Amino acid sequence: MAQLLITGGAGFIGSHTCLVLLEAGHQLLVLDDFSNSSAVALKRVAELAGTRLQRDQPTLIKAPDTFTLVEGDIRDAPCLDALFASAKACGQPIDAVIHFAGLKAVGESVQQPLRYWDVNVVGTQRLLSAMDQHNCRTMVFSSSATLYGYPDQVPIPETAPIQPINPYGASKHAVEELLADLAGCSGAAEPIQASGAGWRIARLRYFNPVGAHPSGRIGEDPNGIPNNLFPFITQVAVGRRPELTVFGDDWPTPDGTGVRDYIHVMDLAEGHREALHSLLSADPQLLTLNLGSGQGASVLDVVKAMEAASQRAIPYRIAPRRPGDAAITVANPALAAQQLHWRTQRSLAEICRDGWAWQQANPNGYGDGCR
Ligand code: NAD
Ligand code: WQD
Repeated sequence: MAQLLITGGAGFIGSHTCLVLLEAGHQLLVLDDFSNSSAVALKRVAELAGTRLQRDQPTLIKAPDTFTLVEGDIRDAPCLDALFASAKACGQPIDAVIHFAGLKAVGESVQQPLRYWDVNVVGTQRLLSAMDQHNCRTMVFSSSATLYGYPDQVPIPETAPIQPINPYGASKHAVEELLADLAGCSGAAEPIQASGAGWRIARLRYFNPVGAHPSGRIGEDPNGIPNNLFPFITQVAVGRRPELTVFGDDWPTPDGTGVRDYIHVMDLAEGHREALHSLLSADPQLLTLNLGSGQGASVLDVVKAMEAASQRAIPYRIAPRRPGDAAITVANPALAAQQLHWRTQRSLAEICRDGWAWQQANPNGYGDGCR
């Protein structure tokens, strides 16, 4: 059992991972500023895990509690320092950090690059400094397949060229570089290196995380109009939006629509558990792993799978290609299978079944009427 700090733990991937980690017997401290999430998600995680959520201040962590929430910003160095110090003072020093907190909207990052670098890069640097000062040198980091830009080969291995094409991707790349520096692997060609620097780091490159916990109690709740395909489709199915816009049917793919590697968020959460356990049981190292299924699905494949899951028609119209899109991105997930003995278990049909259960039970997400 470890004491873990989960930054951004109230968010989409963080909330599902909190549940998996509580079920694995870990004790969690969540730090989140709720800039893109709701505390309701964490209350529901506690319900599902059969525990209670304690709210606390960074200076007043009361040990030992299984699941504690601290509202704060990863850029707030005094808050981070107080959090690490008070966890230590009450006999529960933080063993490892799972770092989800960050901004993730590609289009917004083009409009607000300074904000993206501030939260994603400066925020992570402050977090790593606090970890270093308090002798906590294990981190699982949320990286992204967005680093591969327009990939030269598919399925994409971890050794593929890193070529981010927007400020969001550039900010993830900068953090990956900082983590490699800490691990003593700067400029290394190989994605996995042992290091003498004492850091245990996993850089997990997610493909397209979607779906929800099968209970329908927690799921993805984007602010405003969803940027991403999956939440847009579930909102059309539930009647919140009239139709889907399909961005291009002239891609060089079997049906002409874009192909992606959709990964069930519970598979992804379990991947974090395995990465954490691997780091905690091994020598200092830098792991760099794709987390994807290795299977591609087109936009129209997802539409059909959601129609089958929801038993509702999903109206759509074809529009021009979206700038910045690639035709196909699919992971080569072999390295994660080899290193973590982890691979995805859940199909596109299960993704749609669970995503639909969440959307149907919570048509307005964590908002009005469903707390
Ligand atoms: P999310 O927005 O649902 O979760 C991020 C969480 O971080 C939110 O709860 C938000 O309130 C919190 N947060 C943001 N800024 C913060 C700050 N300054 N201080 C403290 N908390 C802050 O996003 P998600 O989909 O769960 O993504 C989690 C991580 O995974 C992000 O780093 C994201 O870039 C990365 N990622 C996401 C995807 C995806 O498609 N969802 C794909 C690849 C990588
Ligand atoms: C999937 C497919 C679209 C919306 C994004 C980020 C990436 C990562 C995951 C964080 C594409 C098509 C979409 C719509 C559509 N996030 N589409 N109509 O672009 O693969 O990846 O999320 O790291 O960085 O870029 O995901 O869900 O936006 O698009 O036709 O309304 O669906 O063109 O082919 P994407 P997506």
